[in-house]
Amino acid sequence: MEGATEELASGPSTSSGPGPTGGAVPGRRPALRIAVAGTGFIGAVHAHAARRAGAHLIGVAASSAPSAREAAQALGAERGFDDAESLVTAPDVDVVHICTPNDLHVPLALAALDAGKHVICEKPLAVDAAAAAELVRAADTAGVVATVPFVYRFYPLVREARARVGSGAIGSLRLIHGCYLQDWLATEDDDNWRVDPERGGPSRAFADIGSHWCDLVEFVTGDRLAAVCAESVTAIPERVSAGGGHAFETHGRAGSDGVRRAVTTEDIVVVLFRTRDGVTGSVVVSQVSPGRKNRLQFEIAGADATLSFDQERPETLWVGGREASEVVARDPAHLADEAARYSLLPPGHPQGYQDCFDAFVADTYRAIRAGGGAAAVDGLPSFADGARAADITAAVLRSTRTGRWEDVS
Ligand SMILES: NC(=O)c1ccc[n+]([C@@H]2O[C@H](COP(=O)([O-])OP(=O)(O)OC[C@H]3O[C@@H](n4cnc5c(N)ncnc54)[C@H](O)[C@@H]3O)[C@@H](O)[C@H]2O)c1
Repeated sequence: MEGATEELASGPSTSSGPGPTGGAVPGRRPALRIAVAGTGFIGAVHAHAARRAGAHLIGVAASSAPSAREAAQALGAERGFDDAESLVTAPDVDVVHICTPNDLHVPLALAALDAGKHVICEKPLAVDAAAAAELVRAADTAGVVATVPFVYRFYPLVREARARVGSGAIGSLRLIHGCYLQDWLATEDDDNWRVDPERGGPSRAFADIGSHWCDLVEFVTGDRLAAVCAESVTAIPERVSAGGGHAFETHGRAGSDGVRRAVTTEDIVVVLFRTRDGVTGSVVVSQVSPGRKNRLQFEIAGADATLSFDQERPETLWVGGREASEVVARDPAHLADEAARYSLLPPGHPQGYQDCFDAFVADTYRAIRAGGGAAAVDGLPSFADGARAADITAAVLRSTRTGRWEDVS
């Protein structure tokens, strides 16, 4: 990799960070030089996380050169790239963050890997399982760190749940269930590139948010979904084109051309599953549930206790017991080490979604510095995890078509 290996190998210190003007601080290892392709909702979250982790934001790319220049100014990047293709191969960039619509993930990630860059690529890693597997192989060949932001793993109380399941504290698992519900696509006037299968892929609700739920539950339990039986619903068969609304914009969307378009991607998916260890479960995924903004919730019942987590209330974990139940608060003094590590603020000072992103990006950069790929940092979601989500999505789609149980490959 041009620049990065040399710079990273040269610094004696374990800390890094930009100087007041973004340059290297004397005596410290120079900052990683990063660039962000796609500057919508999540591109801005990435840019903030990267800066928080001490990276130097070289540039951004958006859907046009003028909008990239505007976004560069807004996000404090050095420059706007003319297009994403030139960003992912730029010689002065060490780490590429891919935050574009889904259809661009594979070509941009392949080009970045080919140029020897470390890559953070948004989910879904690819809109089909074969392409996701190709990206895993390309990342292995390149020998770089390649990660996917399954960021809900970075809530301290998710790590606490994982530690309790792993230690056997809740007993053998019996039932896993939950939901991921949103409402930002709940009316026919709500539209987004995700609805268009050419941009978003053949699965919308499941690939977009169901994939997060499955990753989280597999991460917490250490078990894997083995087979699924799914039903999907397109509750809103036609939508009025929004002409480019960003994610989660439900008001004041500019540029609606008033054209009604038939919808082929799903709004709702209900999935029954069984795991490799023989545990039964279910998940309900919806982007059309009024009042539910981002309700990712799971419940895991073991023989001795039940754990329940809701990402809209991420500062607590409900631990159910037959005699008594308790609500465990995020207090590092009383959490497992792996959970306490992600507890950054004193208890009672809420941490949230951006903090998860900050931790994920910081861990990715830590893995880059450590060498040895994403596996260098425990719990860091890699391209293999992105490909795993694509396999589950493929099985869910197959099942919605066949009406039968389908194995997850
Ligand atoms: N990990 C998470 O928690 C999470 C959350 C939200 C979104 N995402 C993922 O992030 C990606 C982006 O989603 P979003 O919600 O930010 O969407 P968005 O619509 O808000 O932003 C997409 C951005 O991509 C830009 N873009 C479009 N075409 C481009 C091109 N050819 N080159 C460069 N930029 C281009 C647009 O200008 C826009 O800024 C999606 O893949 C989505 O699944 C992940």
